[in-house]
Amino acid sequence: MKIDGTPFRAIWVDETDHWSVRIIDQTKLPWALDLPRLSSMEEVAHAIRAMLVRGAPLVGAAASYGVALAMRAAASDANLAHAGRQLGATRPTAINLRWALARCQEKLAPLKPGARVAAAYAQAAEICDEDVATNKAIGKHGLDLIEARATGSRRVNILTHCNAGWIATVDWGTALAPIYMAHDKGINVHVWVEETRPRNQGASLTAWELGKHGVPHTVIADNAGGHLMQRGEVDLVIVGTDRVTRSGDVANKIGTYLKALAARDNGVPFWVALPSSTIDWAISDGLSDIPIEERAQTEVTTMTGRALDGSIATIRIVPKDSPAANPAFDVTPARLISGLITERGLCAANEFALSALFSKEAK
Ligand code: MRU
Repeated sequence: MKIDGTPFRAIWVDETDHWSVRIIDQTKLPWALDLPRLSSMEEVAHAIRAMLVRGAPLVGAAASYGVALAMRAAASDANLAHAGRQLGATRPTAINLRWALARCQEKLAPLKPGARVAAAYAQAAEICDEDVATNKAIGKHGLDLIEARATGSRRVNILTHCNAGWIATVDWGTALAPIYMAHDKGINVHVWVEETRPRNQGASLTAWELGKHGVPHTVIADNAGGHLMQRGEVDLVIVGTDRVTRSGDVANKIGTYLKALAARDNGVPFWVALPSSTIDWAISDGLSDIPIEERAQTEVTTMTGRALDGSIATIRIVPKDSPAANPAFDVTPARLISGLITERGLCAANEFALSALFSKEAK
């Protein structure tokens, strides 16, 4: 996608040195476009943990470049295993991280150390290119859902939670890919962007990238979504996901489950967009089997924004002695999900439909 007319991906190899890895620092958005250079596996691990890069597919892509940087430092068996452990421990919920690391391990372990650096960079580039192609396919399939609701010049109102746009992936996004395609096709789409406390990925990131692409959108408090559905102002909900079980349960940013409940109560279709790398075929019951990341209390007790004098300020919004809890994801049971938008097409959120679409992977 483009930022002020310049095409970008969310991660790439530096064009001048051809080995370090560049990212968009998402902790600085929407206030600054900062493109740091990562030059070691440890820096990549930090970028994932501190959420300079985030979003399940992008976390997987970043980890694969982390392995490449580790191999550049020392291509031994011991360092390959060490990189896998370090990167794998950065974030627990998004399965794409483990998927990408397993793929790197499988590719690199049989090779002689001397062949591993080039193979690791090639593997990371392949994961990135595949992600872009996958998200384009998700966009095309999801576009059908939007087109079906676009009669004449009628505005189609779509609600989304968190950020599952192009900066959460290598390019295009998952939940936002169909929206970009609909907008580019001239369909009158409008997005209700939930702010997504505590880290405000909706207000800071989704609003930023929709704005850069010229997609009409309105930021709402997380608590406003149900009210808008009751008033008939939401035609469709589309969200992304960090892990889907083989039975179609979906883990996504905290607050997603409440929107699925409100959507069900109001007869609003609730769709989840995902690449197949987000499906964890080893588990069935999302509530008991998906690890939920618990993040720092400070994400809840503070807020960061631009002060009226132009400086970026972090302020505390909770009494000094009040503790906070910060579960970062929740699980939406398959029964509340209208369907899944995958790179192979639309399908019901259940084991039968998923394994029919992905028969090889489901084994
Ligand atoms: O904690 P985050 O910001 O990494 O959480 C991201 C989400 O929950 C996204 O919805 C999900 O990763 C899908 S991104 C295409």
